[in-house]
Order: sequence, then structure tokens, then C-alpha cells
Amino acid sequence: MIVTIDGVAASGKSSVSSGVAQALGVPYVSSGLLYRAATLLGLEADLDLRGAPGLLKLLGTHPVRLEPLAGGNRVWQGERDLTDDLHSTRVDRGVSVVAALPEVREWVDAQLRALPEPFVAEGRDMGTNVFPHAPHKFYLTASARIRAERRARERPEDVPAIEADLQRRDELDTVQSAPAPDALVIDTGPLDLQGVIDTILTRLR
Ligand code: C5P
Repeated sequence: MIVTIDGVAASGKSSVSSGVAQALGVPYVSSGLLYRAATLLGLEADLDLRGAPGLLKLLGTHPVRLEPLAGGNRVWQGERDLTDDLHSTRVDRGVSVVAALPEVREWVDAQLRALPEPFVAEGRDMGTNVFPHAPHKFYLTASARIRAERRARERPEDVPAIEADLQRRDELDTVQSAPAPDALVIDTGPLDLQGVIDTILTRLR
């Protein structure tokens, strides 16, 4: 069984997916971390992020592995744990360019489809493109201001700067961010984290 939880940037997907996965006793899979890892490695190697061949060569010679756990995902490159470096502002700013490359999307999708079920899959296109046959699909939204206020607790920038970055990323991510027609859309604005998790669990039961 696969549950997909997609949504816009900073809509709470990771925390919600982790909570749902823990309640179900299964791992959750954060697809965004793989896009972030490709971006981080491209930045560190000083590559042009718009160029797929250079990035794919790098990912081929230095393979990246996603470790899906219920409590939180980790991303490894050999013995190096990349996870704590994946949520910097410079990765936030570069990731949509990398995620627009079809070759990188294929690289991510192949890794996700190879994972053993059951799990909760979280991202932008889990319900539409990667797991279209998943029986349970959810899509999280919230206004840019509310998302920026939440994210300001995790980033050094102030709310208006974060809001501007989120809106820019929303625009760049539009293509892969459409909700699946059979997804339940949840506006997380008026809900706290547990409220969103409970809404999903109630629907699943
Ligand atoms: O979910 P998160 O905000 O960490 O994702 C980072 C970026 O990765 C998104 O802004 C988007 O560009 C890309 N992404 C994507 N498809 C996914 C997951 C993430 O394009 N399934």
C-alpha cells in the first residue's frame, strides 16, 4: 500500500508524512531530499545547475542513497550523511532549476519506484506521476504568508524574504505541482500539525 502526500513548498508535507507514517507503522519517503541532494552536490562541484549531463555524471560516479525511516529520512553519499546540509537557503534557491531537468526527474523516480512497499511518499508529483495507482492521495496547501511564517522558525531570513522565495519556488514548480484529480486537497492554514495528520488518518480509516 502506498499513501501519497503532495503539496506546495513549506506546506508541512514532511512533518505530516512522518506523523502519518508513524501512526501507520511504515516508513515515509521524502522525494524532495533527492532533488535537494542533486542540487547540493552540483553547487559544491561548481556545476551549472541547468546542465543535466554534468549533474548526472556526478550522480553516477558518486551515488546518492535515500534512507526512508518513519521518523525522518536521511540521504547518504557513500559514508557521508548529506541530510543536515540539504535545507540551506542556497539549496532552496537552486533546487527548482535542478528539479526541472527531465533527466534528474527520471533519476529520482527510478529510486522511488525501486523502494519496497508499504510507505508514505511525499513530494510534488507522487500522486500524479510517480505512483498514479496509489489508492490514497492527499494534497496540502496553505497561503504563502502562513507557510513563510512557519518556515521562518527554521531559517535565518525574515518572513517577507522567505515568502518571496516561496512564491518564486511555487512558480518554478508549477508544472510538477498539480494535485492528482483523485487527491483530497487539505488547506492546512487553519489546522495545526496534529489536525492535518488526524484528517488524513480519519480518511484512511
Ligand atoms: O519538498 P521540498 O520543498 O523539500 O522539495 C524541494 C524541491 O524539490 C521543490 O521545490 C521542487 O522543486 C522539487 N521537487 C519536485 N518534485 C518532487 C519533490 C520535490 O520537483 N516530487
